[in-house]
Amino acid sequence: MGDVIFRIYRFEAGKDSAPRYQEYKLALEPGITLLNCLNQIRGSQDGTLAYRMSCGSAICGSCAMRANGHALLACKTQASSLVKNGVIQLDPLGNFPVLRDLVVDLEPFWSSLRQVKPWLQPDTSDEPERERLQTAAEFHRIDYATTCILCASCWSDCNVLEVDKKFLGPATLAKAHRYIFDSRDAKTQERLERIAEPRGVWDCTHCGECSTRCPTETKPLARIEEVREAVMIAGVTRSPGARHAMGFRESIKWFGALNENYLPVRSMGFFNIIGLLGILPVGLRMMRKRKAPPLLPHFIDKVGEVRKIYKRFHELRKEAGGGGGKYEGDE
Ligand code: SF4
Ligand code: SF4
Ligand code: FES
Repeated sequence: MGDVIFRIYRFEAGKDSAPRYQEYKLALEPGITLLNCLNQIRGSQDGTLAYRMSCGSAICGSCAMRANGHALLACKTQASSLVKNGVIQLDPLGNFPVLRDLVVDLEPFWSSLRQVKPWLQPDTSDEPERERLQTAAEFHRIDYATTCILCASCWSDCNVLEVDKKFLGPATLAKAHRYIFDSRDAKTQERLERIAEPRGVWDCTHCGECSTRCPTETKPLARIEEVREAVMIAGVTRSPGARHAMGFRESIKWFGALNENYLPVRSMGFFNIIGLLGILPVGLRMMRKRKAPPLLPHFIDKVGEVRKIYKRFHELRKEAGGGGGKYEGDE
């Protein structure tokens, strides 16, 4: 492939006033990984270049960084797949303070994880004589979530964390899933209540970036969707996020389409006067700019057919064992 320019972010906290990019030229060997390119650059051109690595086998999660703007594992990625016009640009993971070059301070990630108590909390009144067993099916429920290697690639590219550093974040939500669905854990309801609080499972915007960047089968967005369903089935529906989800469902069922007047009111709560007053200015601004939806609700033709689908869905769910319960608003 010939020579490639590695354009690498350089910065040392406490010493440099601003980051800069430094370029290194390297002839790519066929099949070489990005991590081995960095090792060659550090070994033969610049011993001051800082980055993390350990296993070299996509297991430890320490070599995560951004290449051409997207998070990945350097040891799992062929350098040749990243070359754009002869250049590979490397940056530290996003949404973290940078300590030095490609090394970030992961403390926000660890402190978020601690919030969901990522350890088993079994029923201690019923201690087994030996280990707590799981069937294959029970393990399958948490199989994907257990593959997380805590690399923080998802965290780096999460759009919500970009604007709200207190959002629990995709890896933490996936970790919460791993314990919520663990058959040996006895704190499911408590965990669901915690995850449904503001800045938890309902604050994800479904952009999907975490799952795209995740190098394992964890795929946080899919886990978030499963946790949301569990939250609803458990009846933890006091949050605006849960009411928003119910509002979507009711809107389609009643009108056959999304009613954008109903949704914000339903999300905020019909009797939440302070909350409703809070969204009033947005509504007025929309009206002034002629962006507000019509006040009279629009019903699609054959809305009865849509309602039949809901009814049939509810019957099927009941026949299948109810999926654990009934949502608020079910017939
Ligand atoms: S899907 Fe949700 S958690 Fe994942 S990156 Fe997007 S906003 Fe963040
Ligand atoms: S969920 Fe995926 S991307 Fe996020 S920390 Fe775990 S392995 Fe890394
Ligand atoms: S060095 Fe361990 S995952 Fe890349």
